[in-house]
Amino acid sequence: MVNQHHGGTGPDAEGRAGQTVVVTGGSDGMGRGIALGRAARGDRVLAVGSNPMKGERLLADAAASGLGDRVEFLTADLSTIAGNQTVIDHVAANYRAIDGLVMAANRQSPQRVQTSDGLESTFALYYLSRHVLGHGLMPALSAGSKPVIVNIAGVGLASGKINWDDLQLRHRYRTIAAQLQAGRANDLLGVAMAAQFGEQVPYVLYHPGFTRSGDSAMEQINPLTRAIIKTVAMVAARSVERAIAPVHGFLDSPPTVPLTAVDRGKLLPSELKTLDPAAARRLADATDQILAEADPTAVKREDGTR
Ligand SMILES: NC(=O)c1ccc[n+]([C@@H]2O[C@H](COP(=O)([O-])OP(=O)(O)OC[C@H]3O[C@@H](n4cnc5c(N)ncnc54)[C@H](OP(=O)(O)O)[C@@H]3O)[C@@H](O)[C@H]2O)c1
Repeated sequence: MVNQHHGGTGPDAEGRAGQTVVVTGGSDGMGRGIALGRAARGDRVLAVGSNPMKGERLLADAAASGLGDRVEFLTADLSTIAGNQTVIDHVAANYRAIDGLVMAANRQSPQRVQTSDGLESTFALYYLSRHVLGHGLMPALSAGSKPVIVNIAGVGLASGKINWDDLQLRHRYRTIAAQLQAGRANDLLGVAMAAQFGEQVPYVLYHPGFTRSGDSAMEQINPLTRAIIKTVAMVAARSVERAIAPVHGFLDSPPTVPLTAVDRGKLLPSELKTLDPAAARRLADATDQILAEADPTAVKREDGTR
């Protein structure tokens, strides 16, 4: 579902022209907060999510705040290669340039789920989607003014590992291990993207810390565990507004270096073990192989056209 109204936005009070920002997972949690926050700052926003009802709610809330003409919602299942291609095609057809790409879509899966591309769903949604979108939207980003990519994941965590011999976790699937593997893969994605494109389009890896959002992530979790997590979150977690404040900073003033890694407020050193350039190259090669081997019938558009 697409809200076709995406009118221009004028310069803000500081004279900065309104940016155009794509936000994946823009219908819930941090992504939604960023989408509405950018619109309130005068930006034009394309929010992406898989549930059209959440999209309707986002658009209604934007309209109620007088921001209806600044927010567009696109329904796409980012756990599929075709869903990501839908976003890339939509941007190419409707936007001359984009200035920011914020990636916040994720969902936990208690059981191993295989996507229509034959990939494990956490790997596909939390990591591969970000690889495909970063590359596919690079032409639009390169045409933007001071563009930046912000990948919201878990940089700074040392736990979890890339299962090089079983990236699709066919032999042993655990929810948290799948999340951590995709998190470490996003760390390496940032390194690879920054090495290839970072001079022109800087890349930010951002860990928001434990945040009172994640309702989508918990949709599949049993009610008791969900109630416990929500209770702990009431006490220990940060508000969405607090967690996303640095993201607004990255969009307002993109870093001047190719790669920036921030865990909450802390700038991380590039020498971190989880940011190993050799491992980043290895994962980039493995990812290219996965995409090349993906069932070509799966790369058709979501509307059925090629
Ligand atoms: N919350 C935390 O404590 C925490 C901590 C560290 C890192 N993070 C990371 O921060 C990011 C944002 O987390 P959050 O807590 O704000 O998430 P959230 O509230 O669970 O929202 C997730 C978003 O992803 C979208 N999504 C899920 N599956 C999708 C699919 N197949 N295709 C397209 N969109 C999909 C959801 O929309 P639909 O339901 O409409 O698809 C929703 O908009 C995530 O990458 C997460 O890993 C979160």
